[in-house]
Amino acid sequence: MASYLENASQIAKEAGELLQGYFERRVTFELKGEHDLVTVADRASEKLIVDRLTALYPTHSILAEEGGGHGGASGYQWYVDPLDGTTNFAHGFPIYNVTIGLEYQGELIAGVIVDPVRKEVFTAEKGSGAFLNGQRIHVSKVSRLEDSIGVTGFPSRKRHQSVNIHFFYQLSMLSHGVRRSGAAATDLAWAACGRSELFWEFNLSPWDMAAGVLMVREAGGTVTDMRGAEFNLRGQHILADNTLIHQETVDLFKDVFAGKYADKLPQIG
Ligand code: IPD
Ligand code: CA
Ligand code: CA
Repeated sequence: MASYLENASQIAKEAGELLQGYFERRVTFELKGEHDLVTVADRASEKLIVDRLTALYPTHSILAEEGGGHGGASGYQWYVDPLDGTTNFAHGFPIYNVTIGLEYQGELIAGVIVDPVRKEVFTAEKGSGAFLNGQRIHVSKVSRLEDSIGVTGFPSRKRHQSVNIHFFYQLSMLSHGVRRSGAAATDLAWAACGRSELFWEFNLSPWDMAAGVLMVREAGGTVTDMRGAEFNLRGQHILADNTLIHQETVDLFKDVFAGKYADKLPQIG
């Protein structure tokens, strides 16, 4: 019998092929909120994934971004983002993914992130490591923030209330630079395989993070909230890093939270 991870990977790959077809044809978008896009591709991918998971595991609970999931009392909880990076996708900007994570009794046990553009399949299973197209991956060995690349994102909802620009600014000044890809699960997968040293973001949802959190941990990284406290999948903010620069990052973020650099932001206009 195929494992949860094997089945989830197969389903995510099929959803990725479906998305790539839409991506090449280009689709129009609708707005769910002021800057929150959704497309026919998000919905088609979610239906494929939820139908397939439900057929295999009818008693499992599924939380899916576009609302197609359902409850279940088995202790197994799936998290599905059928298209992470919808804004990129709708603009033809080629960074997006399909991500599926699985929790059992509150513990993340399996995750897959499929990048249909690069044909990259990231997988992780608790205690068994993280893999990219079947090859073991590890976080980077960079040990100083000043030698690092950081990655972040900004929420589509309540953007005006986001404090993240302060963190973005400080990290940009201190490191080799900060990137914003537009797909949180890709950001986590890339931290797991050493393409960046850290990823942080406010206002994420469990489906954005579930698979990627396990990926980073299984690749030797550390995942906490942005103050260095225990990570909570429903807690909305995350710091995922290569472990070596964890304390330095938490110390910097503590200063930013405390307003130490608030007056250093340049005023515009
Ligand atoms: C979004 C992306 C983006 C992040 C946003 C997410 P979606 O997911 O992951 O990188 O900055 O916070 O909402 O809406 O494209 O699935
Ligand atoms: Ca997402
Ligand atoms: Ca999505």
